[in-house]
Amino acid sequence: MPDTSPDFQSFASTEQVAETTTRRLLAAAEHAIAERGRFQIVLAGGRTPQAVYRRLVDQPADWARWHVFFGDERCLPADDPERNSLAARAVWLDRVPIPPDNIHPIRAELGAGPAAARYAGLIRDRLPFDLVLLGLGEDGHTASLFPGHAIPDAALVMPVHDAPKPPPDRVSLTPLALGSSRAILILVTGRGKHEALARWRAGADLPVSRIVTSGRLEVLMDAEAAGD
Ligand code: 6PG
Repeated sequence: MPDTSPDFQSFASTEQVAETTTRRLLAAAEHAIAERGRFQIVLAGGRTPQAVYRRLVDQPADWARWHVFFGDERCLPADDPERNSLAARAVWLDRVPIPPDNIHPIRAELGAGPAAARYAGLIRDRLPFDLVLLGLGEDGHTASLFPGHAIPDAALVMPVHDAPKPPPDRVSLTPLALGSSRAILILVTGRGKHEALARWRAGADLPVSRIVTSGRLEVLMDAEAAGD
């Protein structure tokens, strides 16, 4: 199936992006569970998805059938609140009855190399995901795929060093793994993201441009980011 081009959608406010995303996630979960008995989601790090995670806490969902993976992780101690997995746990995952064995953190405390190899082994037999959530950095990075860093074509997960956004050592799913999904939602809010978004839409070769899928690829932006 040919890769789908991104469907850019602009919303009046950040709240509307979070509300729409929450509804999309719940609908995708219901569909996946009806079809396959489980919902496999990949979470984004950073601040933007936090508003979605907070909204999910009070939602009626079949949490026992959710399986949670992470698009990237920061190589920080396992109990560091700056870890993407702990940030999601604090506002959502630890507040709903998702079975602990269904939450698959990246063991980034082991170091970028060992953690990447370990996570590649874990996700290899789980593809395709049902939904991948991603953010966008002001330099056009997504997950921990940064401009100027070599991205291996065949690997599913890669160690990252010298990341321009702290911490320097990270682990990231590659475009190959992130693109192995039935749906991808890229959330982009705030004035600071406008230039990266404009460059992406103009065809610049940014890491986010490498995210392609034969599934559905939607970019949910607020008016500030879209420059409306
Ligand atoms: C991370 C993220 C990163 C993030 C973007 C956007 O570990 O920081 O995975 O890719 O999604 O940097 O971050 P904000 O949403 O905080 O602007």
